[in-house]
Parts: sequence; structure tokens; C-alpha cells
Amino acid sequence: MPVVTFANTKGGAGKTTAVLLLTTELLRRGYRVCLIDTDPQRWISKWFDAAERQHNLTVETFVSAASLQRTVNDYRAVCDYVIVDLPGAQTPLLATAIGLSDHVLIPIQGSSMDAQGGAQVLDLLRYLDRKADLRIAHSVVLSRVNSFVTTRALQAVKQLLAEQSVHVLDTPIIERSAYRDMFDFKAFLHTMDGAKVSNLDKAIENAVSFADEVQRLVPVARKAAKSGQLTAGSLEKAA
Ligand SMILES: Nc1ncnc2c1ncn2[C@@H]1O[C@H](COP(=O)(O)OP(=O)(O)OP(=O)(O)O)[C@@H](O)[C@H]1O
Ligand SMILES: [Mg+2]
Repeated sequence: MPVVTFANTKGGAGKTTAVLLLTTELLRRGYRVCLIDTDPQRWISKWFDAAERQHNLTVETFVSAASLQRTVNDYRAVCDYVIVDLPGAQTPLLATAIGLSDHVLIPIQGSSMDAQGGAQVLDLLRYLDRKADLRIAHSVVLSRVNSFVTTRALQAVKQLLAEQSVHVLDTPIIERSAYRDMFDFKAFLHTMDGAKVSNLDKAIENAVSFADEVQRLVPVARKAAKSGQLTAGSLEKAA
């Protein structure tokens, strides 16, 4: 099943937030999601440890470059989506994760357009294409975009990247306090209380469009047959 990696060597670009948005929406749709948290800061794992259990979600942590390939392959066999969150720094895991991916999503902060970390990932993708004939589909997703930014301004950014043959998702991830609240409350977007979280409906709408677009790019043929907590046993059987 598809492997989607979120990469940008710049810290704070919005990778982990985008990972959680996608995950929360895929789970709501009944998909089985395996997250691989490769960040030594373990944001996803800390969130998962404190969040309400979801039987369709598994999180793998403490993954090394050596174990990443096996972990991805094991999960691929049993999950509808395998999602890899990379750290915001140069890491030997970057090339390995990219090489194992069906699609690489590169969040670039829309407000500052500080695209350097994203450019490093794009350079590596081009290098793999040129030198190893390895073409990995990839897209930029504009992240942390101010809700007042006009469609026209976003179109201009898209156009700029399109001129460099970079595909940009139509859906930008908007800067929403609800997305910070997910971390703070260790919650899933759709289980938070709309009375306590500002603009939760808009935040969910944004996550729905984002997930729709990702699913169009990396469709899954069928949902994993059985639900239930993934165990080491089920992984071994599947491997
Ligand atoms: N769309 C958003 N709306 C509101 N806050 C956001 C959004 N995206 C990111 N943030 C906040 O910005 C900070 C950095 O975001 P995040 O952790 O997702 O980035 P990252 O690329 O994973 O960073 P790192 O490289 O350090 O892992 C966090 O405090 C997060 O809550
Ligand atoms: Mg992160």
C-alpha cells in the first residue's frame, strides 16, 4: 500500500502537522494508517502515546536508516497508508525514505516562502532521477498559509514552482490554531470539541480537501481487509 513521506530539511515547515492532518482524516474514512516517526524529537510518538487509542493506527518510533526499509516494507503489507515523518534537518534517512516512497510531499511555508529546505529535497529527487533513473512522484504543499492570503497570490506561487516543473497541491494548509490544539490536547482533529477550538469546522474542511487531494495522487486499491490492533504477529505473518 502507498508510502507517503513528508520531507523538508528545514525545521518548522509544517511536516508533522500535515502528517497528523492527513492521518486524522484517513482514519475518519476508515483506512488503516501506519506512521513512521523518524524524528529524534518524537513529536508524533509523544502525541500518540497520550492520544486516545485508535485501533486503525500504529506508530513506529526509533527507526534507524538500517531498519527503515524493513519497517516500511512490513507496514506496506498490512496498512492502507504508510506515512513517514522526517526530521527538519539533514538526515541520512532522507534518501532512504524518498527511495521507498510512492509520493513525497514537501511542505513549504507559504507565508515566508523560505523554500531552502524544500529545495534540498527537490534537488535530491532530481539527482535520483538523473543518476539512478529513480523517478519518485512528489508535490509541494504550501503550509501555514494565512487564511487571508488571496487565491491569486497562491496561484502566483504555484505558477512560480510550475515553471520549475514542480507540482503544487491545490489545497494549501492554512494556519489554524486548531492544528496546534491537536498537539496540545493530544487529540484527533475530528474528536476535538468545536466549542473549545476556534474555527474547528474550517480546520476540518481544510484537512478534508488536503486528504482528498493526497488520495487522488496516491489512491489505495482497497482498504486493508481486517481491522484490529496491528501486532508484531500480524506483521510477521504479512511479511
Ligand atoms: N497550519 C498550521 N497552523 C497552525 N500552526 C501550525 C501549522 N503548521 C505548523 N504549525 C505549528 O508550527 C510549529 C512547527 O510545525 P511542525 O512541527 O508541523 O513542523 P515540522 O516541519 O514538523 O518541524 P520539524 O522540522 O521541527 O519537525 C508547531 O508549533 C506547529 O504547531
Ligand atoms: Mg516535525
